[in-house]
Amino acid sequence: MKFFVDTADVAEIKLLAASGLLDGVTTNPSLVAKSGRRMHDVIAEICAIVPGPVSAEVAATDYDGMMAEARVLRAIAGNVTIKVPLTPDGLRACRALTSQGTMVNVTLCFSAAQALLAAKAGASFVSPFVGRLDDIGEDGMGLIADILTIFRHYPALTTEVLVASVRSPAHVVVAAKLGAHVATIPPAVLRQLFAHPLTDKGLAAFLADWAKAGLSIG
Ligand code: G3P
Repeated sequence: MKFFVDTADVAEIKLLAASGLLDGVTTNPSLVAKSGRRMHDVIAEICAIVPGPVSAEVAATDYDGMMAEARVLRAIAGNVTIKVPLTPDGLRACRALTSQGTMVNVTLCFSAAQALLAAKAGASFVSPFVGRLDDIGEDGMGLIADILTIFRHYPALTTEVLVASVRSPAHVVVAAKLGAHVATIPPAVLRQLFAHPLTDKGLAAFLADWAKAGLSIG
């Protein structure tokens, strides 16, 4: 499963990219607004750090507006993936952009029917929001299972399931168990993936024994 990071914080992305674990980045209008920076600058800097797909979301809601914004965004770098909302105009833009060779991430997906539409529109990625479904008492990971089941019936569909609105390491693990193609993970959750108390305890014991014995390597 590919790991994307879900943030527009360039400093954070630099740190995480150094780990060698990042396959891509997703942003959204809320995350870019939170950074307090210009969209163009943020996306350009991220694309220079991470060679994989970098999702930049349109803010227009009509087809012509989305296409105009997509042209501006994709000119920033070759790895920009245009993120469009799962609306009739968004899917029309998705079809047009993918036929021009531009990667598209269809976002704000909350049902299997919507995911199927995104796949039929030729999306490179569809982003079901698992955390927001859990928040309203629905089953986010159940939706991922349903979408993957449907897509497996149709091997010609090339759309990758990008698990979004990830809130915990458990979301990441279940996504991998189900065979999701990508999870986009907030930085704090990515760091949580490393953590286990027995790792810390074991390392402390190894280092104490090593120091007591006065050994060295090399
Ligand atoms: O970027 C889309 C998605 O990951 C947003 O997550 O936490 O705002 O529901 P969240």
